[in-house]
Amino acid sequence: MTNPSFEFAHAITRKPAKSVIAGLRAEDTGTPDFAQMEVDHAAYVATLRETGATVIELPALEEFPDSVFVEDDALCLKDLAILMRPGAPSRSGEVALMAETIRAQYDDVFEIKGPGFIEGGDILTTGREILIGKSARTDAAGVAELRAIVTTFGYSLREVQTPADVLHFKTDCSLLDGETILATKRLDASGCFEGYRVLHTADGEEAAANAIRFNQFVIMAAGFPKTAEMLRRNGFVIREINNTECAKIDGGMSCLSLRF
Ligand code: GLY
Repeated sequence: MTNPSFEFAHAITRKPAKSVIAGLRAEDTGTPDFAQMEVDHAAYVATLRETGATVIELPALEEFPDSVFVEDDALCLKDLAILMRPGAPSRSGEVALMAETIRAQYDDVFEIKGPGFIEGGDILTTGREILIGKSARTDAAGVAELRAIVTTFGYSLREVQTPADVLHFKTDCSLLDGETILATKRLDASGCFEGYRVLHTADGEEAAANAIRFNQFVIMAAGFPKTAEMLRRNGFVIREINNTECAKIDGGMSCLSLRF
């Protein structure tokens, strides 16, 4: 029996647009190198494919600088998908351009219609529940609208809080298996993972928390050797991808794909 929280047959990605260098960011740490980002993105897609999954690669959208971060556009569950309503105004048009691809994959597709907002980066689906962190991009009304949809399908949803000054809930955590979470100490300290087995990122390596478990691999950003070693010691098979350019616009491993 497969575990839908980390065993996937499909992923959707979108090639970075040249406009990605103008992507949203909390602080300016330099302009992303587009050529390097293309190389990194290709390595990411190849790693997803290495697991045997089918990857649907969508073309770049120049009018949406952050559109490479497809995770924010939808929530893909086993038996339904929900199109999100991004809280960042410059990203709201991305969803309509993702909808056709999602509808081709699912019979049941719902939409967050508003007035609330919700971005996929704030949602962690574990083996037992859907955790949603309220953030600057995801508000209570968005969470309430999503709750009404997913509970009809038998999912349990729990509202938690993304740490202040952190873009998305999953900036600080990832699912490693149905019951194990990789998290920063600051997020775990909030108590939101009580009852789960939690592995912490090493001190100074908080940016390693945004990883993905995708079939046999944990795919994580390169450059976090202590966290990578800790994960290996815990039996996980690691693939490291350079993320220096996406990191300049607050993006990481989970942001780059929808997985189902
Ligand atoms: N640059 C990623 C985001 O802010 O949505």
